[in-house]
Amino acid sequence: MEQGSLPKHIAIIMDGNGRWAQKRGLPRVMGHRQGIQALKRTLEEVVRLGIPFLTVYAFSTENWQRPKEEVSYLMGLIEEYMKKEIHNLERNNIKIKLLGSLDPLPQKARAAVEEALERTAKKSGTTLSVALNYGGRAELVRAARKLAQAVSAGELDLENIDEELFAAQLDSAPLPDPDLLIRTGGQMRISNFLLWQLAYTELWVTPKLWPDFTAQDLQEAIEDYRRRTRRFGKI
Ligand code: FPP
Repeated sequence: MEQGSLPKHIAIIMDGNGRWAQKRGLPRVMGHRQGIQALKRTLEEVVRLGIPFLTVYAFSTENWQRPKEEVSYLMGLIEEYMKKEIHNLERNNIKIKLLGSLDPLPQKARAAVEEALERTAKKSGTTLSVALNYGGRAELVRAARKLAQAVSAGELDLENIDEELFAAQLDSAPLPDPDLLIRTGGQMRISNFLLWQLAYTELWVTPKLWPDFTAQDLQEAIEDYRRRTRRFGKI
């Protein structure tokens, strides 16, 4: 079968960490710790394949409602990842991008993410976008507000608002929309992730839990994607 091209942008909902841990009689947070290993494997494979954009859902605006201990463990993990991996990221020419806002994060986690953003800002290889304190609806509301403000300040005509200008206000700008969304853990839903950007994205869901996700699973998702015909609403 004729194979289509590699996806340029892969987005991932890294679900199933809690279940992975519970199945082993471990505290849920051990699943998140193991999830970091899966993220490292996946990023390494994405870089090896020369895929320019990887976007991962690390922490949603809804995740603040989890038990205090789990939230603070996740914040600690994010801080640890940014600190421990920074040399590796720099060496591999990886640029970190943030989707969402760091405002409500604990100071140490926030500082670690800000440093990783600064130190990798000029890198030209794969961009790893981390959705952190991110919600798709909140991102859309922020974009609408920016445009409304520009209109009311007389800097923008209402007639000039089009899809391109709208997309340019999103946290994801200037990334292209994801070609492929991978969700682990078997749930068939979007969970407030990249609501605008996923309009024509190909979806691939696996029952595998995120800590079990391997480079081979990634290759499988990509092969499946390459066999699909994307029509973007045309015939
Ligand atoms: C979903 O599993 C996973 C999360 C809410 C967190 C994912 C975060 C990481 C893997 C760490 C990210 C860190 C960086 C630096 C990007 P779940 O807890 O909802 O699992 P369940 O559905 O089995 O309960």
